Amino acid sequence: MTDHSTPETALTNPMLRLARIAVRFGNRPGIAGRLGGRAHSTLVRHRNWERRFVAECLRAWRETGTLSAIRVLRRGLNIQMADRELAHVLETLERRRPCALLVFGMGNDSILWFEANRGGDTVFVEDDPYWTKMIHDRHPSLQSVPVVYGTRAIDWRRDAVNPTSLILPQRLTAHPWDLILVDGPAAYTRESPGRVQSIHAARRLVAPQGAILVNDCNREAESRICDMILGHLPLASSTNSLRHYSRPPIEKAAPVTRRVQAANDSVRRPLPAAARVVGQPA
Ligand SMILES: C[S@@+](CC[C@H](N)C(=O)[O-])C[C@H]1O[C@@H](n2cnc3c(N)ncnc32)[C@H](O)[C@@H]1O
Repeated sequence: MTDHSTPETALTNPMLRLARIAVRFGNRPGIAGRLGGRAHSTLVRHRNWERRFVAECLRAWRETGTLSAIRVLRRGLNIQMADRELAHVLETLERRRPCALLVFGMGNDSILWFEANRGGDTVFVEDDPYWTKMIHDRHPSLQSVPVVYGTRAIDWRRDAVNPTSLILPQRLTAHPWDLILVDGPAAYTRESPGRVQSIHAARRLVAPQGAILVNDCNREAESRICDMILGHLPLASSTNSLRHYSRPPIEKAAPVTRRVQAANDSVRRPLPAAARVVGQPA
């Protein structure tokens, strides 16, 4: 059942209260942390808890700009992407939302991208029926497009030189995409499809002023495939595993995020909006 509750009605909702406690205390040490953990375990027994939890984490993150909400989010949803990369994707999306967002790879993080781009057009590209079903069973309103990759991860050196285009439905080619996140398909075994075709498809589908984010570039294959296929685009930023390609941004309103980071947070403090220059990640 679709949940249409507004923030006002949600305030009286016990599930929301649990989500709030989980987000507020989940990252704290000692008794507070245990309370947050207990709230989270109670929360997960409720149907549709993930959407509430994500909405609450996003609200906390937008209000405080801290990594703490992102940590709780990642642990609570069991997302594979690291905190720092998750923060970068969210900040990039925050500057562009609502937008046309295309995500290669479905997983525990799918509901996060959908909620963070609420009001925009979010579509997922997935080749594995198991993961498609698993995520759709939990979130029937997400839109996904099935694809068939014709590659093996082990062949990336050969394939990246002359990539075979992925066959894409009109849903994906009808308009360009403002932001494309490549976090799929699987590339962790020799026989997995690997990411030549998804990275190549991102290049074809991105809007002229759009951005492409590629995860797992700490692996040799992904980093070299990016060099070969996206190397003509400006590399706006790069963390340990996430590369961000975009042309210089069209100036927009100041980003929502204020960084009030805990001393031990490793994400660098972004420049204030006024100090942003062309070449900052858009
Ligand atoms: C790196 S995973 C994407 C993981 C997802 N971004 C996350 O953080 O949970 C790439 C592909 O592996 C499959 N997959 C998704 N979640 C997975 C998980 N938790 N463990 C293993 N494979 C996963 C899907 O077929 C997906 O397209």
